[in-house]
Amino acid sequence: MTNEVINDPKMEAFEARIARGEKIEPGDWMPEAYRKQLIRMISQHAHSEYIGMLPEGKWIPHAPSLRRKMILIAKVQDEAGHGQYLYHAAETLGATREEMMDAFLTGKAKYSSIFNYPSDSWSDVAIIGWLVDGAAIKNQLMLAQCSYGPYSRAMVRICAEETFHHKQGKEMVLKYAAGTPKQREMVQDSLNRYWWPSVMMLGPHDSDSPNTPQLVRWGIKTKTNDEVRQEFIAETAPELLEAGLTIPDPDLHQDETSGEWIHGPIDWDEFWQVVRGNGPCNKERLAARAKAHADGAWVREALNGYSQKKSAAIIN
Ligand code: 3HC
Repeated sequence: MTNEVINDPKMEAFEARIARGEKIEPGDWMPEAYRKQLIRMISQHAHSEYIGMLPEGKWIPHAPSLRRKMILIAKVQDEAGHGQYLYHAAETLGATREEMMDAFLTGKAKYSSIFNYPSDSWSDVAIIGWLVDGAAIKNQLMLAQCSYGPYSRAMVRICAEETFHHKQGKEMVLKYAAGTPKQREMVQDSLNRYWWPSVMMLGPHDSDSPNTPQLVRWGIKTKTNDEVRQEFIAETAPELLEAGLTIPDPDLHQDETSGEWIHGPIDWDEFWQVVRGNGPCNKERLAARAKAHADGAWVREALNGYSQKKSAAIIN
């Protein structure tokens, strides 16, 4: 027990609730640091969902068949809905949509590094589905156990939809890997470009993860970044290899004794460059989001005007 727990009965009671596996609900007492951590994580998660629509949304007009187009439209629409659930979850902690949007659009707030990479071919859509949504599912299944009620419940709904996203991507990759030489070449190129950014998206190594100790102590995270990364690699690597694809990590192997997957060194310089706004698509992504926000201003004004008129009518 740290000093702050011994001296503060409220904190002691809070930590006892966490230890019992209870869900903390809006309006319950919580340490300010708990609330701030959740607003940080949940709002950045929501921003990621919004930005995540862009790399795949670009391919909707170019889908190779009506079936693929319909699946991709449904997936991109789901991501928008995930963003809405998550912004609402953050609002239960006192964050306002305006504050979150301002932090997002001015580049103050982070969003997932993975979405700052280009989607150059249709098979990128396939690989994003299998790898990016696959990694996100591992992370989100962990967050579904989160001690904060609204976040964990949002994760349950989101994971159900992500499973469909993951399956449709994997179906395409396996089809192309077993397809024509051109299809195999295309999907191998996508894997070459998306493997490492997908491994990185689960966050820095635990030794470089300043938030993890507090998040784990308060049950916001139930696993560390490296634990989730290992789950992702252990599931995905064997299946990619079985499909006859080459993973662009010559050091990747499974330790015969422990069964753990050992990967090569991660380029954290690249990761931090991307996180700091210097990735291949950061500027393009934020500009697209800022334009969409500006283009939608008239809708917000109309809704605000309507709700003010409605509440005035109720008062008078
Ligand atoms: N991209 C951008 N920033 C990242 C990052 C990434 N992939 N990984 C870590 N960071 C940032 C953290 O935000 C933190 O910065 P901050 O304190 O200023 O916010 C810093 O790097 C140090 O990292 P930590 O490991 O200490 O941070 P966390 O403990 O918060 O762990 C995380 C990082 C695992 C991403 C965690 O924040 C998390 O689980 N977030 C919620 C899930 C989420 O945001 N997922 C993003 C993908 S959403 C998605 O994929 C959509 C799907 O439909 C495809």
